Amino acid sequence: MIDGGRLRGAAGRRMVEFDSMALQPSSPVVQPSVVPRHVAIIMDGNGRWAAQRGLPRTEGHRRGADAVQRAVEACGEMGVDFLTLYAFSSENWKRPPAEVEALMFLLDRFLRNKLDEMLKKNVRFQAIGRLTDLPASCQESLQRAIERTAGNTGLTLILALSYGGREEIVDGVKSVVRDVQDGRLDPAMITPEVFSQHLYTRHWPDPDLLIRTSGELRLSNFLLWQLSYAEFWVTPKLWPDFNKSDLEEACAAFAQRERRFGGV
Ligand code: FPP
Repeated sequence: MIDGGRLRGAAGRRMVEFDSMALQPSSPVVQPSVVPRHVAIIMDGNGRWAAQRGLPRTEGHRRGADAVQRAVEACGEMGVDFLTLYAFSSENWKRPPAEVEALMFLLDRFLRNKLDEMLKKNVRFQAIGRLTDLPASCQESLQRAIERTAGNTGLTLILALSYGGREEIVDGVKSVVRDVQDGRLDPAMITPEVFSQHLYTRHWPDPDLLIRTSGELRLSNFLLWQLSYAEFWVTPKLWPDFNKSDLEEACAAFAQRERRFGGV
């Protein structure tokens, strides 16, 4: 079906490499490759990448920020609509202060230095998490990046910052309770769809594909509600080594999956 001018499969996934000739009755049917509309990534392994090279963990994070740039470019080129990156979890505040400071510095620098490039590449910045926990300078650069790129129509890059899936659900419950108490919501009308509208992610579809680097098989409190029907793809590669061919491999695996969403 045509959705907003783009061809999508039955599961709502965009089909690329679409050959318009295939619409001609006499043409052979072209099997399009299927690109996930929303990719979420748990970027893991920066510390191990650095340790393997005898470098400080912060150097792994610095190289991790380069991999973020590559992933954003690759997703944009491949026609992914939404990319959510787990950049800093609620639990990451427990790390040594110097490491937290280095991560905040890298985030701030990324948001400031890459803004022009993101504008050129038509990338739209968004963020989820308890953003007021972030240092004031990061909040400012984040706000600026979000505002300046608000009119972009290409890839939406959603940074999960001071983000925890359980915290998001608790915040969602509080929001539902407020609406009930203020008489805006009848408790009998609460459904999964209604609850989804109280989550940080209410503006976007759920991820289709979850990628995790460094071989770990855990969700680590990431998008607990939204990943219900995501396809998982795990690579032993550490995040600083992640590149476009890895993303292509993940998308190729995704294209082979049969998604039944609990049906038959
Ligand atoms: C996990 O590796 C990674 C993080 C906790 C932070 C991710 C941050 C970046 C990729 C860089 C900055 C981000 C942006 C958006 C510019 P780890 O430290 O847990 O690695 P380990 O498990 O090997 O110790």
